[in-house]
Parts: sequence; structure tokens; C-alpha cells
Amino acid sequence: MTDTKRVVLSSDHAAIDLRQTLAAHIAQAGWEVVDIGPTTPESTHYPLHGKAAAERVASGDCTLGILLCGTGQGIMMAANKVPGIRCGVCSDTFSARMIRQHNNANMLSIGARVIGEGQAIDIVDAFLKAEFEGGRHATRVDMIEE
Ligand code: RB5
Repeated sequence: MTDTKRVVLSSDHAAIDLRQTLAAHIAQAGWEVVDIGPTTPESTHYPLHGKAAAERVASGDCTLGILLCGTGQGIMMAANKVPGIRCGVCSDTFSARMIRQHNNANMLSIGARVIGEGQAIDIVDAFLKAEFEGGRHATRVDMIEE
């Protein structure tokens, strides 16, 4: 476990450029960034990268995680198979804020073929700045975990 605010990022080949842009932005915002790649453009398998990043969050090594693939959907599905992971795909800032505030999401997934860079940056900011509200929402998140 760590007290450091540390964000892990990963993607498949469809989102390398956007992932690296987001990694630089998140570092500039003061978070410690763990970008686990990939870095080369060959076609790869999003479940591998979603699982690897999700395990960093589930273990406590990283506080939150950001995933990307073409749609954001496949890598989100893979991450959510790791116990303790709550990952949502977002294409808007309202959802990105709410999945933290109400669902205590610990991972965000973005579709690099769905939205542009500016929107992706705003979504990441909304996700990272929001905090879980607890209360009745904690009861519901506990039900998900059960
Ligand atoms: C890769 O072509 C594409 O299928 C992948 O990036 C993602 O969109 C899957 O959900």
C-alpha cells in the first residue's frame, strides 16, 4: 500500500498516443504516474493490459487507474474481472465525476477512437478531482463487491 497519489495507465495499440498525452497531463497535475505501456504500435491484446493495470490498483500499489483502447469497452471489461476493481467507460465529464462520487470507481476507461484529446483531458481531470461521497452510496458499492 502507498499514501502517494499514484495513477497507473495502460492501453492497447489503438490508444498509445492519447495515453502518453494523458500521462504527461496527469503528471503535470501533481500525480505520480505509472505508465505500463505498451509503447510500440504493433497490434496487441487489450485484456492483457487491462488486467496488468487493474492488478496494480487492486494490490494498492496505485491509487487509481486510467485505461484506453479503441472504444474503452474491451479493456474496461477485462479490468472489471479483477476483484476489487470498479471501472467505467466515460465519454463525458459528468459521468467521470459521478463514477467516483457515487460508484467509488477506482479505474476510468476511455475510447481513443470515440472522443478527442481535449475531451479526454477534461474527463481525466473530472475523474481524478472527484471524491467518493460514501453514505448510501457505500451501501450500494458494498453490494457490488458482495
Ligand atoms: C482494437 O482494434 C479494438 O478492438 C480495441 O482497441 C477495443 O476497441 C476493444 O474494445
